[in-house]
Amino acid sequence: MVQKAKVMIDKEFVIGEIDKRIYGSFIEHLGRAVYEGIYEPEHPSADEQGFRTDVIELVKELNVPIIRYPGGNFLSGYNWEDGVGPVSERPKRLDLAWRATEPNVIGTNEFIDWANKVNAEVNMAVNLGTRGIDAARNLVEFCNHPSGSYWSDLRISHGYKDPHKIKTWCLGNEMDGPWQIGHKTATEYGRLAAETAKAMKWVDPSIELVACGSSNRHMPTFAAWEAEVLEHTYEHVEFISLHTYYGNRDNDLANYLAQSLDMDQFIYSVISIADYIKAKKRSKKTIHLSFDEWNVWYHSRESDKQLEPWTTAPPQLEDIYNFEDALLVGSMLMSLLRRADRVKIACLAQLVNVIAPIMTKKGEEVWKQTIFYPYMHASLYGRGTALQTVVSSPKYDCRDFTDVPFLDTVTVYHEEEETLTLFAVNRHQEETLKIDCDIRSFEGYTVKEHIVLENKDVKATNQHNHSNVVPHNNGDAISNGGYLTANLPKLSWNVIRLSK
Ligand code: AHR
Repeated sequence: MVQKAKVMIDKEFVIGEIDKRIYGSFIEHLGRAVYEGIYEPEHPSADEQGFRTDVIELVKELNVPIIRYPGGNFLSGYNWEDGVGPVSERPKRLDLAWRATEPNVIGTNEFIDWANKVNAEVNMAVNLGTRGIDAARNLVEFCNHPSGSYWSDLRISHGYKDPHKIKTWCLGNEMDGPWQIGHKTATEYGRLAAETAKAMKWVDPSIELVACGSSNRHMPTFAAWEAEVLEHTYEHVEFISLHTYYGNRDNDLANYLAQSLDMDQFIYSVISIADYIKAKKRSKKTIHLSFDEWNVWYHSRESDKQLEPWTTAPPQLEDIYNFEDALLVGSMLMSLLRRADRVKIACLAQLVNVIAPIMTKKGEEVWKQTIFYPYMHASLYGRGTALQTVVSSPKYDCRDFTDVPFLDTVTVYHEEEETLTLFAVNRHQEETLKIDCDIRSFEGYTVKEHIVLENKDVKATNQHNHSNVVPHNNGDAISNGGYLTANLPKLSWNVIRLSK
């Protein structure tokens, strides 16, 4: 049997302009993300700075606009000063967050060099766990002040005459979490974040700041935390952060694929809290959302418990993603797009080797995980204006959700380029979903390509020596007389691209 859904797409149904930063990612000093990931001086493809050029090429394929750095939980014990100046004089430190040894071979300047090579901005995070106002304002001075002061001249002495001009900064990481070094109450954190923000902006008023929201929606302090933090920081920051990770721990696919509804609800709740504080403060300013950690993370959790402590670059958080994970990642991307009016930054956590779309083998090849594809498609084709996509789809109930639409979809319109892109997941496990879309406001637009990611085996993976999960562009979408029709195979990720 074929299931049927109706979709209405109209140019005038505007959600908002998509900030390209929603296709951001994240590199933490964790596991093999930095060492053996982006940096491997002995690798045949390494450039003059020791960065793997094969990795750089794949990051460029993803067109990642911004990369959060250097953590993560690592951040809360990090002295940024350890990572600048002559490498031979940099200290090795115990990283208490991940129980590893950090050699500090790569630090601020080198990472910014690497980010420039992949054409990405850096979203720099300051340590509000063990450090505070002083270290944060000094780092802004080091990175952004042109010259003529202690920290800016130090940067120049390291060979960086021009300031790095880092625009986006995170005020700490997951400070609500008891696992965090220097964990704080919402009041303690809110006060510190506000005072740090003031000092950082006095050094460089052009920067934008992200305050820590909750580590996830299920934290006991969720909602109260956001409200209290924003009470203190509202006039000093531009963003509040959200983090979430999902996993199919019970092997319940229907429930797993519905997790993006939890993400929708999380986003909706944080917008509501931010707007409540706006009303309370009679403020004209709107706080935006930075979903600066999101992904699937569960495959590696057990094996990571067996790792030897205090080694450098242990293989931590090396989830090998399967086909069903790619479907959920596609839906999570659509959740971000559906609130493109308020979510202006998002970071797929992470980018290389650590819960990542890109994996490396030491001394050998680099390869693409299953989740590489939906992330790449959204980043390449999801630029422009997000459109409210009105859907009438059959639905299902599962353990944690009711009324889950089999069709998950959103559309993006790029006015200047005259392109319209429909992203869609068919959550049905047995049946094709035939979609009929009214696109009469897009006169003259025809289908250029219908990309499909599908697989008989939901547990199929890619590895360094095989690629079982790769998209094809043999989808059957056609447009005719103002209508677009397509058959979305059971359990599939689809990208239907139209242009004039
Ligand atoms: O991305 C992995 C970890 O997840 C980050 O270090 C932390 O912020 C979150 O708990």
